[in-house]
Amino acid sequence: AMREALIVVSNRLPFVLKPNEEGQLVRKLSAGGLVTAVAPVVARCNGLWVGWPGIFLEPGQEEPTIPESEDTHATSFANLLSNQIVPVFMEKVQFDQFYNGCCNGTFWPLFHSMPDRAIFFADHWKAYLEMNQLFAMKAIEAVERLMQKEKDILPLVWVHDYHLTLAAAIIRKLATEKGIRIKLGFFLHIPFPPWDIFRLLPWANQVLEGLLGCDMVGFHIEDYCLNFLDCCQRQFDYKVDKKMFMVDHDDRRISVRPLPIGIPFDKFAQMAEEAPRVVKESRQKIILGVDRLDYTKGLVHRLRAYEHLLTKHSKYIEQVIFLQIAVPSRTDVKEYQDLKEEMDQLVGKINGQFSTANWSPIRYIYGSISQAELAAFYRDAAVCVVTPLRDGMNLVAKEFVACQIEEPGVLILSPFAGAGEMMHEALIVNPYEVDSAAETIHRALSMSLDERQVRMTHLRKREKMNDVNAWTVGFLKAMDSSMLGETVPVERPPA
Ligand code: UDP
Ligand code: G6P
Repeated sequence: AMREALIVVSNRLPFVLKPNEEGQLVRKLSAGGLVTAVAPVVARCNGLWVGWPGIFLEPGQEEPTIPESEDTHATSFANLLSNQIVPVFMEKVQFDQFYNGCCNGTFWPLFHSMPDRAIFFADHWKAYLEMNQLFAMKAIEAVERLMQKEKDILPLVWVHDYHLTLAAAIIRKLATEKGIRIKLGFFLHIPFPPWDIFRLLPWANQVLEGLLGCDMVGFHIEDYCLNFLDCCQRQFDYKVDKKMFMVDHDDRRISVRPLPIGIPFDKFAQMAEEAPRVVKESRQKIILGVDRLDYTKGLVHRLRAYEHLLTKHSKYIEQVIFLQIAVPSRTDVKEYQDLKEEMDQLVGKINGQFSTANWSPIRYIYGSISQAELAAFYRDAAVCVVTPLRDGMNLVAKEFVACQIEEPGVLILSPFAGAGEMMHEALIVNPYEVDSAAETIHRALSMSLDERQVRMTHLRKREKMNDVNAWTVGFLKAMDSSMLGETVPVERPPA
């Protein structure tokens, strides 16, 4: 059988390049669910990763080379070798229209079923198409590079997320023109919306055609698969099989699969073992939130619920601390700037209202922290609140349970996150119901040890079994492939 080689294509690489004090470019880890899940896959399969390294080129500027990782920590996924990285550079204007405009101004809100926040501009779409063409070309270059080294290789190209919905069809076309045989898969890390939302997109046809360029299209959960199948049927009248999860198109059969993503469970448990204690006060219970500062995460509703809790149950004054980590995200996009304002005000208001001489109810960190440090927060929290208004999966919920290696706490989870489909032993609450969310926090804080143990044991067992490795295996199976443990011929730099 032909040997397979993995090529991942995504907007984001596991790091962004930043100049250090001497002006030299170095790698800085990037945060987000995609990177957390995909990095271990590329590391494990020794694959290539095509993506944007987080910097812009001036018009006419030469492309810089990718520096090797300075991080010698063996478990860090940012230290993929630079010859495993195929960088895609953009200029500032392209980036603005593609990333800030189309990806995060149009796709992100629409696919999270928040159409009122979505903007629709033809210029943004044009940049989106051009960037998808650029990523597709780079992917084909990567394929050709591999095939030069080894003729009998079957490239398995795996495209990720809403930034690149058109790329797969372009890659297929280019490969066909060049007479190269490849396998093509796509995975969407965010929800796929129902037809009556999806059809608001002026370019709905192109997006569906783009995705159907694949052999297999994967989503987190069955609901998103069914939405996608429904859209194919109603937009085009394509032959769709909603039992077998198949679409027939262009003399090809495309399979559609639920592939719920997981985390590197053992790695998180290990980090929780090793992390020093970061929150010193043992008297006060920690209620923890960890999110990118994004309007889909339900942060304002969550703070309101906490405010409600302190009002209704004043016995918690000086007894609990709400620790919210909010990672700066997409800061050039207006909706995100507005949210930052709103949060700053609300945190100030609640702290002003309830603080005493020795205590403030909210500790608000506007910044990103490493996963090794996060592990300590996850371990030491009594309650973790994961209450998005809408979320593809949500890995924070899974990382929390992986790190709960001491006396177990309680997970509070929104049913509107993909994770809510499977993590039944969490306390499920509708984030829009602020008073009910407050009562749920109260219930979590007063839950008996027995009940906490039973719930957490089940949650941990499921996430350990369905970790990121199981996700990779699921993807390869859906692609009808087996390449785990095999390696592609990546050149190692001299030792
Ligand atoms: N994360 C991080 N540093 C932080 C906060 C979050 O590395 O300060 C990581 C976190 O560990 C998780 C990811 O960012 O793996 C967030 O993924 P999730 O699926 O919860 O949400 P997303 O940001 O992808 O919408
Ligand atoms: C979500 C998306 C990812 C994205 C991440 C961080 O997880 O599905 O594609 O990488 O958020 O957002 P950013 O815009 O910084 O890449």
